[in-house]
Amino acid sequence: MRLFVALDLPERVRAGIVAWGREALADPALRPVAPESLHITLAFLGYLAEKEIPRLGEIVEMSGAPAPSIELGDPAPRPERSRPRLFALPAESPDTIALQAGLEEKLIAARLYKPEKRPFWPHVTVARVRREERGSDRPARLSKLPGTLPKGLLQPFDGIRLTLYRSQLQPQGAQYTPLAQVELPADGRQ
Ligand code: 2AM
Repeated sequence: MRLFVALDLPERVRAGIVAWGREALADPALRPVAPESLHITLAFLGYLAEKEIPRLGEIVEMSGAPAPSIELGDPAPRPERSRPRLFALPAESPDTIALQAGLEEKLIAARLYKPEKRPFWPHVTVARVRREERGSDRPARLSKLPGTLPKGLLQPFDGIRLTLYRSQLQPQGAQYTPLAQVELPADGRQ
């Protein structure tokens, strides 16, 4: 099973991103991410045997921590230096970086995860770029870049839960199914 662990965002924030995206991500070359698929990936595990799911679920549950505070920024293209394949909102959040480091350590100790070579970049992918043409691997050229975020989405908010997801690749986009979750308690910050 193709698996990953993500930090889930409050419904209000996901709805805000969707409403913003109706205009800001309107270029026909873009495929906006479905509302239920908006998250911050903490660890992409790749393909693991189904029998590992209980152990993974325990690690996710053990990694619960106070809800991390997050501040989103305006959409950034990836890659930066060639035709973008996706656009993501960078998530400024030292708490999320600490949460990811703790989770990663446990996954590595359990031999369930090989860390990425790149440093962790907390982000919410909001749109993928369609292919230039059928059979081509080249992303299409955009005629209109994604617009900036409204003030409401620039305000800090707290992440709400950690989820182990199964990802099933489909022609119309990946479908994510939660397999294990832990709610992250608000720690009383304003
Ligand atoms: P993305 O949103 O930045 O594309 C499920 O596929 C999640 O895991 C996605 O949110 C995706 O992050 C991330 N992901 C997919 N493939 C990955 C890979 N090869 N390395 C790291 N993260 C990956």
